[in-house]
Amino acid sequence: MTAKRRILVTSALPYANGPIHLGYVLEAVQTDVWARFQRLRGHECHYVCADDTHGTPIMLKAQAEGLAPERMIADVHAEHSRDLAGMLISLDHFGSTHSPANEAVCRRMYLTLRERGFIERRTIRQAYDASANLFLPDRYVKGTCPNCGAADQYGDSCEVCGATYTPADLKDAVSVISGTPPVDRDSEHYFFRLSAFEERLKAWMAGGAVQRSVAHKLEEWFAQGLKDWDISRDEPYFGFEIPDAPHKYFYVWFDAPIGYLGSFTELCARTGLEFQDFFAPDSAAELHHFIGKDILYFHALFWPAVLEGSGQRRPTSVHAHGFVTINGQKMSKSRGTFITARRYLDLLPAEYLRYYFAAKLGTGLDDVDFNLEEFASRVNADLVGKLVNIASRCAGFIHRSAGGTLAESLPEPALFAEFAACGAPIAEAYESRDYAGAIRQIMALADRANQYIDQRKPWLIAKRPDGADEARAVCTQGLNLFRTLMIYLKPVLPEMAAKAERFLRDAAWHWDDAATALLGRPIGVYEPLATRLDPAVVARLVEPQSPAAATPAASAAPAAATGPVTIDEFARVDLRIAKILAAERVDGADKLLRLRVDLGELGERQVFAGIRAAYDPATLIGRLTVVVANLAPRKMRFGVSEGMILAAGPGGPDVFLLSPDAGAAPGMRVK
Ligand code: MSP
Ligand code: ZN
Repeated sequence: MTAKRRILVTSALPYANGPIHLGYVLEAVQTDVWARFQRLRGHECHYVCADDTHGTPIMLKAQAEGLAPERMIADVHAEHSRDLAGMLISLDHFGSTHSPANEAVCRRMYLTLRERGFIERRTIRQAYDASANLFLPDRYVKGTCPNCGAADQYGDSCEVCGATYTPADLKDAVSVISGTPPVDRDSEHYFFRLSAFEERLKAWMAGGAVQRSVAHKLEEWFAQGLKDWDISRDEPYFGFEIPDAPHKYFYVWFDAPIGYLGSFTELCARTGLEFQDFFAPDSAAELHHFIGKDILYFHALFWPAVLEGSGQRRPTSVHAHGFVTINGQKMSKSRGTFITARRYLDLLPAEYLRYYFAAKLGTGLDDVDFNLEEFASRVNADLVGKLVNIASRCAGFIHRSAGGTLAESLPEPALFAEFAACGAPIAEAYESRDYAGAIRQIMALADRANQYIDQRKPWLIAKRPDGADEARAVCTQGLNLFRTLMIYLKPVLPEMAAKAERFLRDAAWHWDDAATALLGRPIGVYEPLATRLDPAVVARLVEPQSPAAATPAASAAPAAATGPVTIDEFARVDLRIAKILAAERVDGADKLLRLRVDLGELGERQVFAGIRAAYDPATLIGRLTVVVANLAPRKMRFGVSEGMILAAGPGGPDVFLLSPDAGAAPGMRVK
């Protein structure tokens, strides 16, 4: 065996303002399979992650929910931890960027960067919301694209023509928070001198730290020139204050990757690991980051430069993956395809998803489609039909005709040797993150094992009066082929592998055990390791879920309640500020307008409203109003209405929509 490696791996830090969804699960599974594979091979591998808790969106979301941000991120942390554990993600530590450990590392790294001359101060002009009293991140300014004239574009880029610009370039700009036009205001900011690292970054990249397609992307970025990076934000901001810079905070993307180190520091404190063994500039340990392709700039440019500039080692590799789509489309809350880890785990076992994702994960940046039908058929064909089938076909005979003990030798050692020899190429596939390739090879072997059993037909042999020994030999062969395959699959299917270890009364497997057969020993009674997936249950993953219908209280509510409304009954009505994104007349319905509304965190919805006689649709676009967000969806002749707009007045032309005061934002709860 090769020398023992010391490895630290990470997944990107999920934002603490939303649930773990299947997109993030893909990333966690990709990281986890690799970490488990390394441990199975006998290497030392630590896997850390944390919640990403800082920044404006999280601050505003906590405000909207009437919670202190500390409270909100603590709740989310508990949920994230539970969901990741449910997906069998073998994190050694799941921390938070809002931790004393992380703050200490941030300060130390910042001060070193400053000492070494990599921090500069510059005054910049920025969009400011004078009614909400805060500087506006680019995404919080919307207006008309200066290039193509498309309305309702974000302050950093146009989704219609692709132009990039600054909020000041937008025409008719408004703050997304208050709806008022932003003003320009000067403020001093702190910059990290990324430009000083160009040569060092090129050398790092040339050392093979990124995938080939990523290297091409980086070359484009080098060609455009590296701009210095603004790492400070003005108060109010939820984050860490910058040393010697009152009222200035580290930008969330500065302290987020440092969160890997913050979390690792906590792991070191708990276990006695030495932080410096992993982060000293000459460390021989490996550092691997798994991320999505959308956050490459941060991980392949800023991050290695910040590490190096602060006197630490650079990552061994940054490995990026593509995005999860659902039945070929982007995950979307309004289409019901925003599948959370919780929703999945309420319906189905984690390992089926782990297997499906692993079978689809290659080395590149391609998106990974979660196709519901293919998922069910793949799990049923591969795991139930091929893999588990080998064990279930053989186990019974060992008990019936051999007293529950395996034969002393294999009848076909050459076949077993073939399976053992595939360990090297399968390991190579895992190592290079070509899990699809590993699974392909493993399933080809599973086919061979089933062919062997089909040819030898132990069920016929066992019927012969003298057949007991031969049936036992064939089934011993079959179970050993199964065992070798389960060892190869252990990084992907840890629970099934553990059950198979118990069934075979074997010690916890290491990779090398795949090459030695289990002989002459008693085994346990076989219990099903996997059962068929019901496509009807899989389909429920994308069932429209109205939040009201999902709670048991809803069905228990009395049909015709009378008397005053209790506070609890009132609280069940989810009233939200909505922004009208689109409005149009509906053919064949002279009272209705079809509206598309933005409910912030709840996503976009379609709502039909009987206000056509009162409003010209064009005048509604962009305005804020109030919507009942948890009304059970109603199917109408023209489509589904996913909410109800509140309005006053007798009807007809005399209908009056409600408007919130300045400061309200889409998605805010109305209480
Ligand atoms: N908080 C930052 C990362 C900071 S790392 C120092 C962030 N958070 S995120 O919650 O938006 O995304 C976390 C990870 O999940 C990212 O790597 C992102 O690419 C990945 N994914 C988010 N949506 C995804 C899909 N639909 N599919 C696959 N991965 C996706 O970015
Ligand atoms: Zn444009």
